[in-house]
Amino acid sequence: MSKPYYITTPIFYVNDTPHIGHAYTSLACDVLARFKRLDGFEVAFLTGTDEHGQKVAKSAAAAGVDPQAFTDKVSQHFRDMGTALGLTNTDFIRTTEPRHKRACQALWNRLVERGEVYLGRYAGWYATSDEAFYQESELTTNAAGKKIAPSGSVCEWMEEPSYFFRLSVWGERLLAFYDAHPDFILPSTRRNEVVSFVKSGLEDLSISRTALTWGVPVPDAPEHVMYVWLDALTNYLTALGYPDENADRFRTFWPADLHLMGKDILRFHAVYWPAFLMAAGLPVPQRIFAHGWWTNEGRKISKSLGNVIDPLELISTYGLDPVRYFLMREVPFGQDGDFSHAAMVRRLNSDLANDLGNLAQRALVLVQRFVEGRVPTPGPLTEADRALLDPAEALLATVREALDAQAFHKALEAVWSVIADANRYVDTQAPWTLRKTDPARLGTVLVALIDVLRRVGIVLQPFMPQTMGRLLDQLGVPVGEARTFAALALSASESLPPGTPLPPPQGLFPRVEEQKAEGRDQGSEG
Ligand code: MSP
Repeated sequence: MSKPYYITTPIFYVNDTPHIGHAYTSLACDVLARFKRLDGFEVAFLTGTDEHGQKVAKSAAAAGVDPQAFTDKVSQHFRDMGTALGLTNTDFIRTTEPRHKRACQALWNRLVERGEVYLGRYAGWYATSDEAFYQESELTTNAAGKKIAPSGSVCEWMEEPSYFFRLSVWGERLLAFYDAHPDFILPSTRRNEVVSFVKSGLEDLSISRTALTWGVPVPDAPEHVMYVWLDALTNYLTALGYPDENADRFRTFWPADLHLMGKDILRFHAVYWPAFLMAAGLPVPQRIFAHGWWTNEGRKISKSLGNVIDPLELISTYGLDPVRYFLMREVPFGQDGDFSHAAMVRRLNSDLANDLGNLAQRALVLVQRFVEGRVPTPGPLTEADRALLDPAEALLATVREALDAQAFHKALEAVWSVIADANRYVDTQAPWTLRKTDPARLGTVLVALIDVLRRVGIVLQPFMPQTMGRLLDQLGVPVGEARTFAALALSASESLPPGTPLPPPQGLFPRVEEQKAEGRDQGSEG
């Protein structure tokens, strides 16, 4: 019986076309989903679109289209992005689906039954672009006299009848929960921000709107629609079959193992969401991880600046796997990072073409030229061999530990340290000399290299599935069981019997021209 693992991306607002930020969260989730599958877990991986609320209603009106037609169209762009990124999500949810309306209304009724909701009147500040309420004390005033949220969004004064959720009574219990689960919110700097926000005192939360009709109607009060964040967060339950708590999927996968998102929407996931769940008597997710934001050549990415990075364009320029690698490697996960084509080209050429690509090419060409294209028979291992193989054999455990903390960059650093060892090993063992001086030793050296490449190829599949598939093909590793992490328990000769024929090698990563990147960077500044 395999252990379950449930991971989610945020659901994306359909007011916008997909950009690098959406791609980033989705790719990180995909790497984890693939990793867990290879590690023997049964994975549910959810993504989708957030289609209700004022922001989407406004965009639809601006486009002169009915909101449903509008969301049908834009939601498809996110599905297409998922296909282009090679996402292995097991479901794609849209909040305008009937299954979701049912889940939202059931959760609402549950909160009402438990005395967590009351009718009142909201009077306060609201930022449509964040779909968020702000307290006066959080705002600044700009030159035009407008109130500005910490996110930079313009706020408007809003007054209307509204249902409220008794968030104010959950503060102490949230703090106790954070205390008892120190890894619930990561990274820890973000956790501290959340803790101080909760400590500063929570106000009851407005959870319905009457000024708006584009949303899930409140049961028995259809002049209200649900606040879009209550609606949106519920998607994580809907996809498992909620309100049917006896559904197989729900019993298997709830609570979620990981909700991953950008830092801007941490408060909703780390404060409101566990409060709603506790209030409804439902288990709280295991972890909320907030990643940082990308800037483009040092500037904030925004439509008005015209510097939005289109993931599809990146993929067509550099290829999917290099883009996946760059985004997971360049910036320590959790921190902000700056995108530039120059940085991209530098990494692809040094890490992929030089380090990994060359290693594979060198080793596999030697096999073709010196041992007739077949896996040779190894002899006894020397100290130098063990110094290479020990860390390679420990790689899975190191990578697993890093990924369990969402430290993608550390996982990749560990793999590249083994790759660097292997390149040095080729230099010091000089197989081209051994061919004449010690053919038996040559066999041992080549088998050690093939085995390191096999381990690297298997462990890197979640990051670069297509290219690592090609590497494993070239190493003669059959598709299936032999490419899962279980196969890493096998020794070199158990996994690749001597005599196995290997196909002639083909380059894995072409070098990228630097000129091209310079031209692009200048172009994008103009
Ligand atoms: N609809 C809400 C989420 C509801 S989840 C129950 C939402 N959608 S969004 O489309 O605006 O944002 C989706 C994700 O994109 C967020 O995790 C956000 O942090 C991320 N990013 C948007 N711009 C980004 C960058 N420039 N860099 C990295 N990620 C960024 O919020």
